Amino acid sequence: MCGIIGYVGNKNVRDVVIEGLHRLEYRGYDSAGLAMTDGTTLEIKKVVGKINDLERATAHGAWKGAIGIGHTRWATHGGVTELNAHPHTGCPWNKNIQLAVAHNGIIENYRTLKTMLEKKGHMFSSETDTEVIAHLIEEYANGDFVEAVRTALNDLVGAYAIVAISASHPEEIVAARFQSPLVLGVGKEEYYIASDPSAFIAHTKEIIHIEDGEMVHLTPKGYKIISLKNIPIIRKATHIDWDAKKIEKGGYDHYMKKEIDEQPSALRDTMRGRIDLENGVSHLNGLASHLEQLQHAKRIIITACGTSWHAGLVGEYLIEELARIPAEVEYASEFRYRSPIIEKGTVVLVISQSGETADTLAALREAKRQGATVLGICNVVGSTIARETAAGVYLHAGPEIGVASTKAFTAQITILTLISILLARSRAMSVEKGKVILEALKNIPERIQEILQPEKEQKIREIAKKHASRDHFLFLGRGINFPVALEGALKLKEISYIHAEGYPAAEMKHGPIALIDKRMPSVIIALDHDPLYPKILSNMEEILARGGDIIAVANDNDKTIEKKANHVLRVPQVPIELSPLVTTIPLQLLAYYVAVERGCDVDQPRNLAKSVTVE
Ligand code: AGP
Repeated sequence: MCGIIGYVGNKNVRDVVIEGLHRLEYRGYDSAGLAMTDGTTLEIKKVVGKINDLERATAHGAWKGAIGIGHTRWATHGGVTELNAHPHTGCPWNKNIQLAVAHNGIIENYRTLKTMLEKKGHMFSSETDTEVIAHLIEEYANGDFVEAVRTALNDLVGAYAIVAISASHPEEIVAARFQSPLVLGVGKEEYYIASDPSAFIAHTKEIIHIEDGEMVHLTPKGYKIISLKNIPIIRKATHIDWDAKKIEKGGYDHYMKKEIDEQPSALRDTMRGRIDLENGVSHLNGLASHLEQLQHAKRIIITACGTSWHAGLVGEYLIEELARIPAEVEYASEFRYRSPIIEKGTVVLVISQSGETADTLAALREAKRQGATVLGICNVVGSTIARETAAGVYLHAGPEIGVASTKAFTAQITILTLISILLARSRAMSVEKGKVILEALKNIPERIQEILQPEKEQKIREIAKKHASRDHFLFLGRGINFPVALEGALKLKEISYIHAEGYPAAEMKHGPIALIDKRMPSVIIALDHDPLYPKILSNMEEILARGGDIIAVANDNDKTIEKKANHVLRVPQVPIELSPLVTTIPLQLLAYYVAVERGCDVDQPRNLAKSVTVE
């Protein structure tokens, strides 16, 4: 996700902003920029690349002024270009309020606002949603900078943390927050505003968290917090004693745990602006250019690696179940070498969090060589795979830093669900059915939040402690939860180095049951609203009869399961089509706590890389 820093005070503003941006680099970015003003001019510099490039680009020149803002961009809307980098300005000829705005978040209604502003004569220079904010403030400028920003914010739909400065108001920074983090740092006659305290922790540990719907007005004389309704808010600073490393992880011990807990907010961003409840349909603008080919596809081949391949397996169930289009999933590393048969009307869907995985890229190129329409689902904007597909959908899940993929997996499943609904609604699915699934999907973040509760986590931690010394685990699931069993096994093996296998539960009797004994726990996904539940119970009895320990993932209100499992990890009941989005969570936590118990390097497991860019 993007990083924001603003400063007002007596230090060298350009140095403070550059230093702050360096401290925000961990958040992941592809471009950066800064803006400063001394009241006569508004100086702006933006680069595609690293903060060091920005530092070199601003090493000379008159970087004077008492206020400044800076931004690291993790692209969501618009490619990785200098024009799309922040800060963004209004119309260059409009001298009555030369302003600069930096933003973290997603503005859902930016297209509508952009059209309205263009009709009023505004000219845009970037592809971003953020630039709309700058032109809106310009449109409402009336001498009171805070009021102009406040009026503009009231037009926005979406998530934002913004900082804005203006040459016409050379001693003011105006900031605001809605569903995107923002924190105020209170120094001695100097003030900082940033996405997180790591940007200014070297200068002050006195912080004030800004809440949703609040604005901050900074001047050299002090700060004011007001609501969007212009009501003053009094809030005392608190002292934090985290070190910078701890702050980068948001207070977590590991990025992986931070990213597991981020899933509710990440999935809200993944779904933002893409669900049309009224018509029971999804909107995926990134696929608009190829919607025809997709909706008339004779067959869909999904190809990916690792966790993304598991997401693809969930996608296969969803596409066939909901849209009734034949779908199959291939390991990219296999697909690329086995001269696959690709008939006319085949659409290939490549899934990759990093967008740089060599096997997936090679599979993409092979499919294109054979004339297939190739679409992508990626998290990193402007990544190689994103650029080489004909069209695609970005996850908007924010950077995933832990090597073990967590929030990207649930975000990929969310996008695959939206694609399945899009296809299904162009075929036989009714508005009502579409509404029911999309309503439930929209509420998934709250359902996941119900699992991420301390008492549930404590239970998982105890189970992890009890089984951390095991050498083998079996993960079992049926139907749409079979891929979740595979994913749970992969999570455990890649961060705790315990051997773990995922299997369709019914496959037990074709071999794996020979492994069952009291030393090998079985993790089984057993949802009592799954039509196959009675068969899953029989699988559990087979395991218990051979002395195997069972850790069951079950619905909150399932009473039967208690008699069939040694441990039960509870999840809220959701439509079976969406159940992988909740059953995955306890398995991510189980793997995490087992790895912690074993003292493994959770974020950088041995032999693994976040993006496998080699064969
Ligand atoms: C997942 O936890 C692993 N780190 C790995 O399997 C990963 O999913 C795989 O390498 C694919 O990566 P991609 O999604 O970036 O292409």
